This record gives sequence, C-alpha cells and structure tokens, in this order.
Amino acid sequence: MTEPQVVIHKGLDGVIVDETKLSLVNGTEGRLIYSGYKIEDLAAHALYEEVVFLLWHGRLPDRQELEALRAQIAANAEIPKEVLKMLKSLPSDSNPMSVLRTAVSMLAQYDIDSEVMTPEANERKAIRLNGQVASLVAAWPRIRKGLEPVSPRLDYTVAQNYVYQLTGEAPPSKEAVDAINTFMVLLTEHGMNVSTFTTRVIASSLSDMHSSITGAIGSLKGPLHGGANTEAMNMFLEIGSPDNVETWFNDNIKTGKRRIMGIGHRVYKALDPRAAVLRERAEALARASGNSQWFEVADKLAALARADQYFIERNLYPNVDYYSAIVLYTLDIPVDMFTPLFAMSRIAGWTAHFREQAAANRLVRPDVLYIGPEERSWTPIEER
Ligand code: CMC
Repeated sequence: MTEPQVVIHKGLDGVIVDETKLSLVNGTEGRLIYSGYKIEDLAAHALYEEVVFLLWHGRLPDRQELEALRAQIAANAEIPKEVLKMLKSLPSDSNPMSVLRTAVSMLAQYDIDSEVMTPEANERKAIRLNGQVASLVAAWPRIRKGLEPVSPRLDYTVAQNYVYQLTGEAPPSKEAVDAINTFMVLLTEHGMNVSTFTTRVIASSLSDMHSSITGAIGSLKGPLHGGANTEAMNMFLEIGSPDNVETWFNDNIKTGKRRIMGIGHRVYKALDPRAAVLRERAEALARASGNSQWFEVADKLAALARADQYFIERNLYPNVDYYSAIVLYTLDIPVDMFTPLFAMSRIAGWTAHFREQAAANRLVRPDVLYIGPEERSWTPIEER
C-alpha cells in the first residue's frame, strides 16, 4: 500500500484558515478594502475612530455614534500609575517594542474585565486597549529621556492625543495629527498577517484579549513584519544622500548581500495600495518641511529596484512600511518608535479579529511532519 502524499504548507502560503468580514487583501490587483470600503477612500476621508467603528460594527457610524466612541476611547486612555512606575524602572535603551509588549501584558492586571470573556467585556477591553496603547507609545520616548508622561485629553481623538502626549503641545500640530490619522487608518487592518494570525491563534485556546495582544506585539516586532518600517529608515539613513543610492544598490542589493527593507510582500504581487497613498503623503510632507533629502533617497532606490530585472521577475514592490518610514521621520518621530506606531494602529484590527474568532471559535491546531529518528532504545546516562 502506498502512503498518502503529505503536502507541507511551509509558511502557510495561500492556506485559508477561516472567514472574515473585516478586510479583503487582493494581492494580484493591489486592492485593499475594509468591510467594503476602499482603502483610498478611507485614507482620504475617515477619522481613525470611524474605521474602528466600521471594523467593530460592520458599518460606518453616524455623528453621535462616532462621538460616543471617540469619547469612550479618550476617557479610557490613561495608563495606570503602577504601569507608569514599571516603565520608569526599565533601562532607557530598552527596545520600544519589548517595552510595549511588557506594558500591555501588565495592563491586564489593572483591567477589571481582563478574565471576563463576554462579548460586552471584550468590547470594553478593546476600547481601553485602543486608548492605552496610543498613550504608551507616546509616553515611552518621554520616559526614557527622564520627562514626565502627559495625560490624555478627554476632548481629543486618538491621533490628536498621540501627538499631544508625545510633544506636550496643545493644540497639537494639525499637519502632524492629519498625517498620523491617515497612517493609522492605512495600518488598522490587513487580513491574515503574522500578528493578526497570532492574535487569532491565542484567542482560539479561549485565552484572554491581553494575552492575544501581547503575543501580537511580539510577532509584529520582527523585521519581516512591522519591524520593517524602522529597518527601512535605518537603511535610508545609511545610504545618506540621493547621490549614494546607485552605489549602495550595486554594493548591497545587486551582490545579493541584503534585502531592501520595505520592499516585497507575501500577498501583494502588485503595488501595495497603502504604499501609493503614503508615497504622496511623504512627498507632500517632505516638500513642506523644506527637506526632501530622505524622500528622494527612498524614491530613487524604489525606482532603481522597479527597473531591475530581479525585482521585476519577482514582482517586488514597495510595501506599506517603505514610505511610512519617510512620513514618520519627517514628523520627527524617533526611528525606533515607528513599529510601536504600527502596533497602536493595528490594535483595532487585532481586537476585531479576537472578537471574530471568539464568536465562531475553533481551536487552531495544525499538524507537523515528524522527520526525527524513530525507535531508539534508552541508554543509561553512564553509558552515553
Ligand atoms: N529585497 C530583495 N529581494 C527580495 C526582497 C527584498 N526586499 N523580498 C523578497 N526578495 C526575493 C527573495 O530573495 C526571493 O528570491 P528567490 O526567489 O531568488 O529566492 C523572492 O524575492 C521571494 O522572496 P520570499 O522571501 O520567498 O517571499 P515572501 O513572499 O515570503 O516575502 C517578505 C515577503 C516580506 C518576507 C519579503 O519580501 C521581505 O523580506 N521583504 C523585506 C522586509 C519587509 O519589507 N517586510 C514588511 C512586509 S509588509 C508589511 C508587514 O507585514 O508588516
């Protein structure tokens, strides 16, 4: 009898693990929609909170509903004093994603609903986490410099509060708030990416939301996922000037020594639609700031790659992390805080997936092919 053929789906490429109503990622056409709305329309018109409501309720809010959600998030954005004390005790050169992971895990201890799994409790926790994660991302760059964190304001949106809590300036710069809002809308949700899958895997064992989000932050940290925005900026800074791009490309990429960070995607084999929006925004912000040097480095490198046979054959295009690095750098956000900003945007998508998983759960438990030795006989320790 012949053994049935085993197919290994390494990296789970193309494997459909469940259904979702949250987003559609069409990698062939370079199309992204959230619950029916094109990402381009949402980026042009939506407040981050409108997108949060859309993901959580499957429709856009009216004015009252939007204001109610905004107010609830703002009212729950304060970081518990015990968590702030813990943050102040950390080494100032800690990796900011590790800081965020530790802080979110600790938030569970101060959330009255942390072990309550009802849909209502999960919605309350999602609201709190949306506000608190933005407050944490704003607080850490201040705390590590010895500055006091700033409390969120009840009358601000998430983007306004983030910029206000980072800079301490009220009102926060409208240009910065608009750019952060657009960035957050673009990064809120994206199908079965690594961190969202992590969220759902943890949720599937009926574990709690804080455990799921802590795991998601850990997986977003990696340079092949959310960590790519920081890596992309470090690469632009290493290149230094538009005049150096060609030599750098020939030395590092043509030789096959390195990958261009912020280029390539498991699903998109066409231009990532988020990258197109962010490129425009990066260019406008850079020109308005009077310093286009970093935008030009990025754009020249992307153009070189797009004209190169290697990148053409493999359908490698800039992804969301490429131009978002320029947007965030132009706004004076510290480079190592770029990935935490990704996390503070994706929190709404993660919590939406957690709730979708909880509503129709099946334990995620794939299999693996054993290729180690079989039938060894035990050797006592003195005979090994
Ligand atoms: N630069 C140079 N070559 C690349 C790159 C790149 N950025 N990305 C992929 N390739 C090559 C790769 O070497 C391989 O070549 P070959 O077929 O000769 O072995 C081919 O393209 C396919 O690569 P892969 O790693 O099998 O493809 P994948 O679809 O699994 O990779 C990826 C997706 C994101 C891991 C990869 O494109 C990459 O490492 N990009 C750089 C990191 C990055 O920007 N990550 C952010 C991803 S999007 C946002 C997010 O999820 O956070």
